[in-house]
Amino acid sequence: MAEGVTDQTPKKEIKKCRSDFRFGQVLGEGSYSTVILAEEKTTKKEFAIKIIQKRHIMKERKTAHVMREKECLKRLNHPFFIKLYFTFQDEENLYFGLSVAKKGELLDCILAAKKFDFVTTRFYAGELVAALEHMHSINIIHRDLKPENVLLDDNYHIQITDFGTAKVIEDGDLSTTRTSSFVGTAQYVSPELLKEKQACKASDLWALGCIIHQMHCGKPPFQAQNEYLTFQLILKCQYEFPEVFHEDVKDIVERLIVIDPQARLGSSDQEGYPSLKSHIMFEGVDWENIANQPAPKIMASLQKISNGQQQTNIHELVDDFDHAMLIDATGTTESSKTSEDQLSSCDPSDTEGFGLSVNLPETEKQNWMEKQKSSKWHSFCKGKLILKRGMMEKKRGLSVKLRQFILTEGPRLIYVDPVSLQQKGEIPWSEKLSVELKTFRIFYVHTPNRTYHLIDKSNNAIKWCKKIQEVSRHYFGNSEKGNSSS
Ligand code: ADE
Repeated sequence: MAEGVTDQTPKKEIKKCRSDFRFGQVLGEGSYSTVILAEEKTTKKEFAIKIIQKRHIMKERKTAHVMREKECLKRLNHPFFIKLYFTFQDEENLYFGLSVAKKGELLDCILAAKKFDFVTTRFYAGELVAALEHMHSINIIHRDLKPENVLLDDNYHIQITDFGTAKVIEDGDLSTTRTSSFVGTAQYVSPELLKEKQACKASDLWALGCIIHQMHCGKPPFQAQNEYLTFQLILKCQYEFPEVFHEDVKDIVERLIVIDPQARLGSSDQEGYPSLKSHIMFEGVDWENIANQPAPKIMASLQKISNGQQQTNIHELVDDFDHAMLIDATGTTESSKTSEDQLSSCDPSDTEGFGLSVNLPETEKQNWMEKQKSSKWHSFCKGKLILKRGMMEKKRGLSVKLRQFILTEGPRLIYVDPVSLQQKGEIPWSEKLSVELKTFRIFYVHTPNRTYHLIDKSNNAIKWCKKIQEVSRHYFGNSEKGNSSS
């Protein structure tokens, strides 16, 4: 190029690629993606890389969801949302480079605290309101707001994530969007979505009401034995407050959890966000500087209660994944199925995948039990239903033993020598039991007296962790979630 002449051609963005990163622990697993902590080799910067397997999204016809997620993340420009820094792809996968929310999920903090006091509830309710105001101002509705999708950054400020089911809508608050089969998560789903399959901005306000209720008393307002019964409660708007519940929080919840979307505080008929932000609960909140306010001190101590497991660390970094491992983790074969698919296609002697839900209706449990009776593992179960089982290696010191692990109602977690068919032991289950996911194949079960090192050679350690957490929550009323696999 001649001297003094500047090149006016647009610079082509240099795309990153997988080998630019070292990968660490799994941060989360969605139905069609896995989020993994990664460090960029040249800059040493950390990212949460969401890996989405192309074959899987094509098969499940989820391409539009992925495009929408990218579009929404690109549009959002606010401190309370996970940031999308870059994307790239290779033959098999799409990669989204996201900011890392180091302090895990809001859900874990609620579980560790059992419930938030007024000040903490106000702090997070305020951040959620500010976040929703921004999101709705650019016409995005999230449609799956819940405490699992509210992550926390280094300073315990919220980072809303998971825009896989979000939608950009037409301008205007009344604009609705039809959903096909999607209904969000049972406990937070709005009545209009259940009745008319329509979601609007105010559907997120309903979820906000549910989250505020959950923060302040530990439980979401609508929670029944199964999804169907939960939906019935939602349709009737039937929920309660415990005796001890701050009056101002109660008032805002009652103004958000309202059947008519336009009657919800914050919706256009109620004069939009100013009506929400001026609610008595938020008296004294500095809305202009909300992102710079320090989080309640209790948040740092909660981390210790939940065993410090929410803290993400680049440890066990690998230059690249074992290929099979990655494919497995992002969902082909077994993991490409939903739990429902798996339930309908497997029998109790083959529940290595997600396993059975501990909340199955009694009649279904009986059906499974009838099938279980013909399995060679049934005799170890003391008449209880197997929720999940599978072969794993149990490591203790230098010794590694292959064992059949059987998780049953009760709850019990026993292990059997698969050759001699003798029970070799049982992991004592109590409120204090917790799990810790280390890699795709390694996880720990912590009990007060011992930590069990388990290796799932099919790389489905995360499924074990999730199932154990689900069962713990069921039996011990949410007090222990033993984190790090969610
Ligand atoms: N889990 C899912 N996405 C995450 C993120 N961006 N940071 C931390 N944990 C996550």
